[in-house]
Amino acid sequence: MGISYLENQKLFKLDTPNTTYIIGIVDQEGFLGHVYYGRRLQEAQGAEELLRTLEGPFTPEKNSRDRSSFMDCFPWEYSSHGVGDFRESSIRIKDENGCSAVMLTYLSHEIYKGKHLLQGLPATFGSEDQVETLEITCEDKCLGLRAVLSYSVFEDTDAIARSVRFENAGKSALCLEKAMSCCLDMDNRGFEAITLHGSWARERRMERKPIGHGKFSVSTLRGETSHQEHCFMALVTPGADQDKGEAYGFHLVYSGNFLIQAEVNQFDSVRVVAGINPEDFSWRLTPGETFQTPEVILTYSAEGLGGMTKSLHGLYRNHLIRSPYLHKKRPILINNWEATYFDFDEKKLLDIAKESAALGIEMLVMDDGWFGNRYDDNRALGDWQVNENKLKGGLGSLVEKVNALGMKFGIWFEPEMISKESELYKQHPDWALAVPGRKPTLARNQYVLDVSRKEVRDCIMEQVFAVLHSANIEYVKWDMNRPLTDLYSASLPSDRQGELYHRYVLGMYEMQERLITEFPNLLLENCSGGGGRFDPGMLYYSPQIWCSDDTDAIERLAIQESTAMIYPLSTMGAHVSVCPNHTVGRNTPFETRGYVALAGTFGYELDVTKLSDEDKALVPRQTAMYHRFHDLVREGDYYRLSSWQENKSYDCFQVNSPDGKESLVFYTQVLNEPARHSRIVRLKGLEEGARYRIHMVSMEDGELTKDTGREASGEVLMYGGLRLERLWGDFRSQIFCLERL
Ligand code: DGJ
Repeated sequence: MGISYLENQKLFKLDTPNTTYIIGIVDQEGFLGHVYYGRRLQEAQGAEELLRTLEGPFTPEKNSRDRSSFMDCFPWEYSSHGVGDFRESSIRIKDENGCSAVMLTYLSHEIYKGKHLLQGLPATFGSEDQVETLEITCEDKCLGLRAVLSYSVFEDTDAIARSVRFENAGKSALCLEKAMSCCLDMDNRGFEAITLHGSWARERRMERKPIGHGKFSVSTLRGETSHQEHCFMALVTPGADQDKGEAYGFHLVYSGNFLIQAEVNQFDSVRVVAGINPEDFSWRLTPGETFQTPEVILTYSAEGLGGMTKSLHGLYRNHLIRSPYLHKKRPILINNWEATYFDFDEKKLLDIAKESAALGIEMLVMDDGWFGNRYDDNRALGDWQVNENKLKGGLGSLVEKVNALGMKFGIWFEPEMISKESELYKQHPDWALAVPGRKPTLARNQYVLDVSRKEVRDCIMEQVFAVLHSANIEYVKWDMNRPLTDLYSASLPSDRQGELYHRYVLGMYEMQERLITEFPNLLLENCSGGGGRFDPGMLYYSPQIWCSDDTDAIERLAIQESTAMIYPLSTMGAHVSVCPNHTVGRNTPFETRGYVALAGTFGYELDVTKLSDEDKALVPRQTAMYHRFHDLVREGDYYRLSSWQENKSYDCFQVNSPDGKESLVFYTQVLNEPARHSRIVRLKGLEEGARYRIHMVSMEDGELTKDTGREASGEVLMYGGLRLERLWGDFRSQIFCLERL
């Protein structure tokens, strides 16, 4: 790792373990150009040629006749607006005269060990030994605007964290109308884009397609990030797969409206910009004020998608998630949502808890419906007081009884929302987002609270804190069940209404920061109608996020595969639920449901008192399986071996323990087919010369893993493969456990 400024060449060279990123300063005007991002270079000799500044018709310092043609093809490090570059701008301004032109050029730079926090925003971090940062200050003299382009490199992972801080250093107010977190210009190498699309309960399906001339983007204006499109894009070279080909990843550490766009221009170069969606965004900067963009993570892999996954997993595990639970086993929880929905009382919960405790489950989570007069989803959001008709002895008594069973207790909140039928709404109707004179749009019969307002945040957090202080509550599920609409805040002047979407996100971050500061040992799980706000921003506050409301094991194969492409397995909330599944009506074996949930945080989402004896008997086996393997799943190196989304037949991935002694191979055969041989799947990350004993996780009585009597060398398993028998029936799953001898 390291950052250097090469004075003679006027180049900044940023190195991660396997990649190099180069920025150049050109001409006395201080144009800042993007020179290179790719495999690690030992030296940068001759790299400045890549900027093509000696090609006419415009050549800096010699011939300025055709400056416009230069503007429109130079690979800018941070693109301008309105002065000749007709590709996507990174920034747009309205000055006091109503002009939108802006052009930032080099002023100074600083290189330092470590990395600053971003004011009010989640961001990656690291010690002075682990991270180095380059800050390049640019300016637009005409506007009096300064921009500090920040780049941090990490010693242990191939990722670069970028962001921009703007400062109005002039004398008159400016309005930022667009402020992207990064811009990356490079020649097109036939790139294909990989993006993640979906819907509620069908999150993150992978899509791959070539990018052609014009613009291709993923974005949202919903105020949350990830049911429909995800704040991620990879550009890969044709034919790139898990092991080979080049992959560039762009991932925003942000939980609100975003845009990531790749544009191919007339000269076949690609420009990627990523940041807050400029639509419905503006930010007024009075003299002296600053604006900080969210962070974006860039990663490059010359070793296919697997390399990209490894870098992102490493970065998020080591430099983003702060929770004390990051490297700890999470308690096996049982959540009552699919068990009871709103129809529960203390007795029902205690019945579930008693049965669960006996089976090895460690925490009861009381989901939606415990507060105010919340008997269905039409009311009571905002009234965070215990409903003592449901919980007769109060919350404290319930929690004591659950604790007496040897179980922990967790609770659900939806702090950013308000029901029209609530005491809170009666008192503060103006706290709901609504445009004066316009009927606001209901979703799940609820409105969004204007958490950009401090008094709103204070009122909600006081209620939340009172509940959490009233009993021994060790886990919170923070939910958010609708997108933002009707954007107007009674507390903002008209020329600042464009700030509301972002102020909302900042307000929500502040609430979460307050929560984990007040309760530092709390296990927080974020959620948004399933996985609607599963993004790196939220991981800064919670080590895990509920991955999807679809708990069907087969649907989860796809959701978890795509999620695991960019997030560690330890972040994915995954539970065993009942069949027929509540979302798709599918029946899958109880074993399969357990194996699929083991690849996430592992827990239950069912009424354990109603399980068949046969299924119930498997629960202690599954909880034992979790204890036996969860360290490995949480800390191990993940390899995607085969994709059900691509092969339409089976799913297979592997997790290797960091010390290489053990490896798990998760295999799910989706549909059985007649007249087929066994499958042979090539494993990854083993030691060529080592021998491995092959065991299988067993749900039958006796040892948790059964020795298959098979042994093979690392070479055979990696270059020949592991033979997987065809299984009788559909939706069958197995876990192999390889022991290095
Ligand atoms: C959506 C979540 O994803 C569910 O798990 C559950 O908590 C419901 N909300 C409760 O309203």
